Amino acid sequence: MEGQTYIEEIADKVGQEVLLCGWLYNRRSSGKIQFLLVRDGTGIIQCVLVKGEVPDEVFELAERLTQESSIKVRGVVRADPRAPGGFELAVTGLELVHLAEEYPIGKKEHGIGFLMDHRHLWLRSSLQVPILRVRHEVLQAIRDFFNERGFIATEAPILTPAAVEGTTTLFEVNYFDEKAYLTQSGQLYLEATAMALGRVYWIGPTFRAERSKTRKHLTEFWMAEAEMAYFDHDDNLRLQEELVRYLVQRVSERRRRELEELERDVDLLRSEVEGPFARITYDESLEILKQKGLELPWGKDFGALEEEALGDHFGRPVFVEALPAEMKAFYMEPMPENPELVLAADLIVPEGYGELIGGSQRISDLKLLEERLKKFGLPREPYEWYLDLRRYGSVPHSGFGLGIERAVSWICGLKHIREAIPFPRMLYRLTP
Ligand code: 4AD
Ligand code: MG
Repeated sequence: MEGQTYIEEIADKVGQEVLLCGWLYNRRSSGKIQFLLVRDGTGIIQCVLVKGEVPDEVFELAERLTQESSIKVRGVVRADPRAPGGFELAVTGLELVHLAEEYPIGKKEHGIGFLMDHRHLWLRSSLQVPILRVRHEVLQAIRDFFNERGFIATEAPILTPAAVEGTTTLFEVNYFDEKAYLTQSGQLYLEATAMALGRVYWIGPTFRAERSKTRKHLTEFWMAEAEMAYFDHDDNLRLQEELVRYLVQRVSERRRRELEELERDVDLLRSEVEGPFARITYDESLEILKQKGLELPWGKDFGALEEEALGDHFGRPVFVEALPAEMKAFYMEPMPENPELVLAADLIVPEGYGELIGGSQRISDLKLLEERLKKFGLPREPYEWYLDLRRYGSVPHSGFGLGIERAVSWICGLKHIREAIPFPRMLYRLTP
C-alpha cells in the first residue's frame, strides 16, 4: 500500500512516523498502557498505546481488537532495547480493517493434528513465518547459484508416461484414454534439454507415492535438479559440494534473523560445510555401520537409521559413492572397474537430516541403456525418445537432484519435514 512501511525496514525509520499494515498477533494491557504485537509478514513489532496520549476512540478500539484482526497502525518508531527486536512503535493512530472472529489457534499448546488441519492459519505463527522466509531464500539462492554459472533454467512436464525412480512409488492418473504418472523427477527431460543447452536446471514439484510415514518423506516435494553435458562423476560431485556450501553460507548470512528466531545453531551449521565434504564408498559405509552395530547386507539401501549414523559419524556432509547398481536406478553409468557398481553418489548431511542429494553419471551408450531397461523390467516404448538421446550425439553427462524440503529442514533445524513446505502432502494428509 502507498506509504506503507514494512517492519523489517523499521531500523532505518527511528524517530519517524510510519504506517504499518498488518495483523494483531497478541495484545497485553495494564490498564493505562496497551501493548499490541503487530505482524506484517516481514516481522513482528510491539506497538504501545498510552491512555490520554492517543484519542480515546483509538485506545478503545485497541481494547476491542481480537487476535488476527487486520489493522493499520500509525506511530513513531523508537529504539528500545527492552522491546522484542529492539524497536517499538509509539502509536498515534489505529484503523480497523477487519475484526477477526475468535481465532482457533490460541496461546495454549495444540496437538500436531489440530495444527495440520489448520495449516492455512498455522502458517501465520511466529515459527512458521521464518521457516517460509528461509525456504524462499533457499530457492532464490539455488537459482542465483546456477544463473551465475551460466546454467539455463528449463522445465520438465509433471504428467509423464513413465517412471524415473522405480515403479513402486508412482502416482497414477487418468490421462483421457491413457494412463499417466505424476513425475518422480524431471531428470530424463533435463537430459534432453542439456543436450540442447549444455547445462540446465529446474526447480519443480515431484511426486512419490511413499507409503512410509517418516519425518523426512513427503508425497509431493520440490526438487532442484541440474543436468550437465560433458560432466563426469567427479565434476558432478564438485558442483554439488559447491552448491551446498553456497546455500548454507548465503542463507545463514541473509536470513540470520530468521534462523535465530528458529533457535538454529547457525555456527554449527556453517562449520559443517566449511571444510571439504567427506567421500566414502558404499563398501566403506557398510564397515562404518557395522562398527556401530548397524549391519546391512550388501546391496541394501540405507534406511533412516543408517543415514543418521553416517551423518553423525562425519559431522559434515558425506558423499557415499560406488553404490550397487541393483539398488539404484536404471540410467546410472556402471563403474569401469566394476560394473556391479555405478558412478553415483548420495549426499548425506549431519544432524539426522539424511540424504539431501541423489546424483549420478548417466549411461551414454545406447546398447547398454537398452539392456538396463530390460533388466529393470521397464517397457521400452515410453523410453524410446530417451534412447534417442543416445542415438544422436551422445556424450558423457551427469546430474543430480536436491530435495528442497530436506534442505530447508536441515538449514532451519526442523524436527519434521512437514513444516518445510506451506501445504505438505503426506500419507493420510491431503487437506487443507
Ligand atoms: O535420490 P532421488 O530419488 O533422485 C532422483 O530423483 C534423481 N532422478 C535426481 C537427479 O539425478 N536428477 O531424489 C533426489 C532428492 C533426495 O536426495 C531427497 O533430498 C529428495 O530428493 N527426496 C525427497 N524429499 C522429500 N520427500 C521424499 N519422498 C523424497 N524423495 C526424495
Ligand atoms: Mg536417492
